[in-house]
Amino acid sequence: MKTRVTELLGITFPVVQGGLAHLAHWELCAAVSAAGGLGQLTATTMESADALRAEIRAFRAATDRPFGVNFALGRRDLSPLLDVAVDEAVPLVSVTGGDPAPVLERLARAGFRGRTLVLVASVRQAIRAERLGADLVAAVGQEGGGHIGRNGVGTMVLVPAVVEAVSIPVLASGGIADARGFVAALALGAEGVEMGTRFVATVECRAHAAYKKALVEAGIEDTTLIEASLGHPGRVLEGPIPRVIRDLEAQGASFEELWPFIRGETNVEAALLGNLEGGFVWAGQAAGLVRDVPTVAEFFARLATEAEQITGRIGGVWEPAWRPGPER
Ligand SMILES: Cc1cc2nc3c(=O)[nH]c(=O)nc-3n(C[C@H](O)[C@H](O)[C@H](O)COP(=O)(O)O)c2cc1C
Repeated sequence: MKTRVTELLGITFPVVQGGLAHLAHWELCAAVSAAGGLGQLTATTMESADALRAEIRAFRAATDRPFGVNFALGRRDLSPLLDVAVDEAVPLVSVTGGDPAPVLERLARAGFRGRTLVLVASVRQAIRAERLGADLVAAVGQEGGGHIGRNGVGTMVLVPAVVEAVSIPVLASGGIADARGFVAALALGAEGVEMGTRFVATVECRAHAAYKKALVEAGIEDTTLIEASLGHPGRVLEGPIPRVIRDLEAQGASFEELWPFIRGETNVEAALLGNLEGGFVWAGQAAGLVRDVPTVAEFFARLATEAEQITGRIGGVWEPAWRPGPER
């Protein structure tokens, strides 16, 4: 396949694995990149700058394909990790969860030569990212897993609106888990996709087997939003802890009261240790479309085959001879 995304990123299939807090280590990323997509290491949840450097080197020992390092901005100072990304000359840095300007400026000042991707949830954010010099944006709709925008706009509407508003290439993200969503995203004007939830349920992902099983068993209505009262809603699989969080939020709980339930350790408890009753896991509505736990290579092979079939089927619905007008 050839789109501006494949050309910009030097990949063969325009599928980017989204940042996955606590889960996107080199094994998964290398599998995605080796399959022709673009894997991303998640810097935010790496213990230290050294840990990120070790992950980058482990990735590079596994494959020489391009990859990204994802930074979800929040309370932690990520500058030392950003400096590692520059120092290691990683092919792509992606930014989400806050103002991308300081990150993009720091990268520019440091002479970073790789590509930059900004995750956006509105047209306004996309225009700003382009002005700040981002090479591409991912338009993330409400269906997505993890933190999403505050405006409630879904991928189907957000993507074409963002494509109209910017001239840099756009990835569609949120709710895409198979070839149907992939082809639909291209129809909306995206030149590639980002997927998160789908990659959690792959053999190479470090997520606990219970988490993967829960994704396979989930229906499309089995996710819910937490942290909306804090101004940064995130989509998780429904469960006892999300219910507690939502009840607390409905009662007007403060950040300090919510913290024991929303902190990273509570996520790790479920995502890595498998205690789904005692923690929470991020997941998008597309969990309802996830039916198995393939290897990344199997997933990409299926995606390519089915995308071709779908494109052929869509092409086939037009009667070539039909044209409006009197000559008919
Ligand atoms: C388990 C999980 C963890 C996530 N962590 C991050 C993260 O650390 N950084 C980030 O940019 N996005 C994160 N996201 C969002 C994804 O990168 C991606 O934008 C989203 O999953 C797309 O929607 P989908 O889940 O429907 O594919 C996370 C998503 C999931 C499911």
